[in-house]
Amino acid sequence: MRLLVVDDEPSVRKLLKRFLESRGFEVDVADNGVLGWQAARDAQPDLIVSDVAMPEMDGYELVRTIRRNPSTAAIPVILLSAMREADRVVAGYESGADDYLAKPVDMEVLRHKIDALLRRAQVTAPTAAPGLAKLICVTSAKGGVGTSTIAANIAVLLCRRNETVCAFDLNIEHGDLPIFFDLQPKMGIGELAREINTLGENIPWDDFLVRHPSGPRVLAAPFKPHDASVVTEEVVTNVITRLRVLHDYLVVDLPPSYNDTALSIYEAAERLVVVTSPELTALRRTREFLGVLAGLGVPDERVVLVLNRVFEVSGIDASRVEAFLRRPVNISIPHGGTGFLEAVSMGRPAVLNGNNSGAVSALDELARAL
Ligand SMILES: Nc1ncnc2c1ncn2[C@@H]1O[C@H](COP(=O)(O)OP(=O)(O)OP(=O)(O)O)[C@@H](O)[C@H]1O
Ligand SMILES: [Mg+2]
Repeated sequence: MRLLVVDDEPSVRKLLKRFLESRGFEVDVADNGVLGWQAARDAQPDLIVSDVAMPEMDGYELVRTIRRNPSTAAIPVILLSAMREADRVVAGYESGADDYLAKPVDMEVLRHKIDALLRRAQVTAPTAAPGLAKLICVTSAKGGVGTSTIAANIAVLLCRRNETVCAFDLNIEHGDLPIFFDLQPKMGIGELAREINTLGENIPWDDFLVRHPSGPRVLAAPFKPHDASVVTEEVVTNVITRLRVLHDYLVVDLPPSYNDTALSIYEAAERLVVVTSPELTALRRTREFLGVLAGLGVPDERVVLVLNRVFEVSGIDASRVEAFLRRPVNISIPHGGTGFLEAVSMGRPAVLNGNNSGAVSALDELARAL
């Protein structure tokens, strides 16, 4: 197990490092909150022990930053501080820390707290069963906010990490995911649904999945809206189970819906990328949708909230959105300008176009969090 100790006091760092290494942990150290944040993001430790009062970025801000970023949000954090006043302790928990210990610290107590938090983190980690694809559901509460754009781009980015990826278009009535890749599949989930019972275990996947040169394989939605009726929840669940055996990642593009298929995917997905945009109508529906997810028992840490197509001038910035939705925005994707429109008309996801715009780096950050 790898720990990160963040403290500006060299003697404390040394003492904690020596003690924790003697108890079998690997220990990295950082001298302040800013370096602590960089180490947390890059090294992905299993747990962080941090001082509160530090130059540059204090412990509270460090925990808030860790919690805001989906790639670090689930890492347990223990704050240590000489400040024992109740309001300081409360501020520690409010920032998102899992525990707060007063200095001087009893080393054995600290070790036991670390063990307890690591045990709990292992039980609750939302990981896919070994050998099965991680199911990433990209969805939204309102159409047109960029769900398919984001699904297509993260599928490409995940392939760049040498993962095998299938992108499944679950926009059953108006699927358009193949267009984002300039692909013209001859068969998709509509044909598969009709044949799945007779095919049994021997599905010729290459007939139903088309591969984009950048890596992802795509399973298309029915080509005609009236074929949607054959794609039942049972078929979708069956197909998802089979596709998960064949890939590292299964990215589903799911339109706004509360039908049985959607509800079972919300429950099964390891990550729910909820896309919204800085417009009041989208935000109101997103608030309602987040409430439904909470009601279904979907843990908060599985939800990655993405604010897409952010305009400088719209007057609704991430902090106002966070106040309205009462939760952090994990990733803000700036408006990508005409490049994004061209990406659709060319059938070439924006991340393949070689420009390093803010929107492309935000998509990159999103893929790293999955
Ligand atoms: N960050 C962005 N910057 C600029 N344009 C964007 C951005 N994200 C998406 N778009 C554009 O918005 C439009 C709608 O995107 P997209 O089709 O991905 O949305 P959707 O949520 O899948 O819509 P639908 O509900 O029709 O399935 C597209 O033209 C796309 O290029
Ligand atoms: Mg779409």
